[in-house]
Amino acid sequence: MNSESAISIISTTLQEWYSTHRRDLPWRTNSDPYRIWLSEIILQQTRVEQGLPYFERITHRFPDVHTLANAPIDELLKLWQGLGYYSRARNLYAAAQQVVRDFGGRFPDSYDTLLQLKGVGEYTAAAIASIAYGEAKAVVDGNVFRVISRLYALDTPTYTTEGKKQFTTLAQQLLDPSHPSEHNQALMDFGAMQCTPASPRCSDCPLQAHCLAYASDTVSQYPVRRSATPKRERFFHYLMIVNGNNTYIQQREHKDIWQHLWEFPLLEADHEMSTEEWLQDPLLAPFAQQTLRMETPVKLRHILSHQIIHALFVTLHVSGTVELPPESSWRTLSLSDLSGVAVSRLTEKFLVKSEHN
Ligand code: ADE
Ligand code: SF4
Repeated sequence: MNSESAISIISTTLQEWYSTHRRDLPWRTNSDPYRIWLSEIILQQTRVEQGLPYFERITHRFPDVHTLANAPIDELLKLWQGLGYYSRARNLYAAAQQVVRDFGGRFPDSYDTLLQLKGVGEYTAAAIASIAYGEAKAVVDGNVFRVISRLYALDTPTYTTEGKKQFTTLAQQLLDPSHPSEHNQALMDFGAMQCTPASPRCSDCPLQAHCLAYASDTVSQYPVRRSATPKRERFFHYLMIVNGNNTYIQQREHKDIWQHLWEFPLLEADHEMSTEEWLQDPLLAPFAQQTLRMETPVKLRHILSHQIIHALFVTLHVSGTVELPPESSWRTLSLSDLSGVAVSRLTEKFLVKSEHN
């Protein structure tokens, strides 16, 4: 058998598998590029089960790209709350405005033009171009790296330039150019349901006979990954002041995690401060005289893709007029409005835990 027919057998087998195992997903009911784009952005760093309710809520509120482009961004950020990676939401919004402004309200309809949209990289452009428009572009992501590295027992590390090139070439060769949408989605579902990261279901796998890793009993060695880079550790000390029905919040402005989200006054330090040390900080000290009661401090660890945040939340109940620190950007907010502002998942966890939500 020559390699060309082996390749077409693999794609055919994948598509047959897909025809009976495909997941019923709400963006698969038609080929509306807006819905497909939205689903791909949500799924960039999120599992399907977790992303589904967000997809439903966002499309319910914003059924098309015009509605999204014309809404205030805060509404989208609020709907996005809990999904994390908020730059996705900001890019989503910016891209909606690009579509309306630069593309006359019509979604770009090729891989190359899709790449011009904010937040749309090679993977997302390939996914939208193939699924919505039938363009013969193979998607290449972690799923595809995994399946291909196993099928071909390919041990080039996936994170190298060389590795990416090899995997992209193979993925494109594997693509069935007459059914790019089915092929790509088959590969996505196959990677998520059959050839899974931890315990792939090799015993009932329709590609078993074509899988070199299976043949050499080396499935667990693929894909070859990079050694993990240590995560940056950060120490956040938050101050929640409760003054009657009010509290004080500020918006994150700097180019950092959680840009534009709201949070309580924060001191970031290069070490983990004890509650005592935090209480003596100049940010907090002015409230000492006014403090009626301090709640038990809440310690939370929050893990992001490249960072670990060690957070300490101190809640002070104070009385009298609160003098806002000079030049601070603190805003007064009624406690009952806290649930209406977009906050990070860390702050949300604190609010739930401390029953201020
Ligand atoms: N993961 C990323 N995109 C996907 C899609 N369109 N269907 C299923 N899983 C996905
Ligand atoms: Fe993946 Fe196992 Fe099937 Fe090979 S045999 S493709 S490793 S599920």
